[in-house]
Amino acid sequence: MTQALALYIHWPFCLSKCPYCDFNSHVREKIDESLWRETLLKELNYFGQLTQGRSLKSVFFGGGTPSLMAPQTVATLLDQLSHYWQLQEDLEITLEANPTSIEADKFRDFKSAGVNRVSVGIQALNDQDLKFLGRTHGREDALKALAIAKNIFDRFSFDLIYARPQQTVKQWQEELKEALTLAQGHLSLYQLTIEQGTAFYTAHQRKDFAIPDDHLAADLYEATQEMMEKVGLPAYEISNHARLGQESRHNLAYWQGEDYVGVGPGAHGRLTLDHDRFAFKEIRAPEIWMKAVLEHEQGIDEKVKLSAEEVFTERLMMGLRLRKGIPQKELKNLAGGRDLNELFQNSALETLESENFIKLTENDLTLTSTGLQRLNAILTFLLKNLAPIF
Ligand SMILES: C[S@@+](CC[C@H](N)C(=O)[O-])C[C@H]1O[C@@H](n2cnc3c(N)ncnc32)[C@H](O)[C@@H]1O
Ligand code: SF4
Repeated sequence: MTQALALYIHWPFCLSKCPYCDFNSHVREKIDESLWRETLLKELNYFGQLTQGRSLKSVFFGGGTPSLMAPQTVATLLDQLSHYWQLQEDLEITLEANPTSIEADKFRDFKSAGVNRVSVGIQALNDQDLKFLGRTHGREDALKALAIAKNIFDRFSFDLIYARPQQTVKQWQEELKEALTLAQGHLSLYQLTIEQGTAFYTAHQRKDFAIPDDHLAADLYEATQEMMEKVGLPAYEISNHARLGQESRHNLAYWQGEDYVGVGPGAHGRLTLDHDRFAFKEIRAPEIWMKAVLEHEQGIDEKVKLSAEEVFTERLMMGLRLRKGIPQKELKNLAGGRDLNELFQNSALETLESENFIKLTENDLTLTSTGLQRLNAILTFLLKNLAPIF
């Protein structure tokens, strides 16, 4: 049986650009929303026909700021889904939202449109840090938006960014304690990263501010894990915490190496077509993407057939982000039936195990909590020692 699909739809616009953000998000004075609706529908139709008849497990409206879309646009897109796919009974439909009053007031209409989960970008619970992060909302807006979300949706999540300049472990613990009184089953907690090409990158290089050093960042991470575990919202992925059963099914699809369609500028997709796995990347610039879709039904920038080695590598890179790791059986299948100890040379697995970075349980390959904090270094080490089997 073909596996179920996840669908990502990208809305690339924001009211202002946050100084830390390197997502494909843009500020425009005017947006012709009906033209955008038509264009998204066109590309949805292209991918819908390509994958017709498969079952659909989740939809995620991401951005940018998709809560700036008219609920009617969201409804029109969702109304199309059953033309292409068999919708799973518990189809998860998430929309990312910013907590301004204009957007929170639309939550009910988004629900009527079919959205059943929102993920709100709160980022911080005090005005000073919100200002530093360049957010257009304040603490009161955040609290109001969360109260509205709680009232309307059975499932909602929110994002916080920690490891901010001068943040102490004690301050963060206090803030997280308050966040937990507002949360339901899911919280995303990201450490602030300084991304190239952002306003923060330049300011950070100019030494306008400093972020916590590795030592403090590790303490903040550990304090986070400890608190979240204690209240029954352990990390199921490096930055994502949930009560059992409340994990984001959509994001799990990425991390478990499943198929997903990406619609909209800059969206990525992974699709298995006739037994081959393809990586799709859409044109990133919104207006160029739009022109391409209007002319050719799709705005694909790259469609690449992945080699067996690339599929294996990607599975490793995504799967090790998860607390539960990767089933060894799956890695074995992807490596042509070879056992795990044949896949890596120079005793790489034994080394990582003796350093307490990985754990090999009877069925799975997982990272320990210390390992999760060093994910990139561990992946580099594993891939450097990948046996020449492909
Ligand atoms: C697509 S973005 C934001 C969605 C929405 N527009 C918002 O701002 O609330 C998803 C999340 O990534 C996180 N994020 C983005 N850039 C980050 C950075 N440089 N460091 C840490 N977290 C970041 C933020 O928490 C943000 O809410
Ligand atoms: S963090 Fe959200 S609101 Fe800010 S620029 Fe990025 S996508 Fe837009």
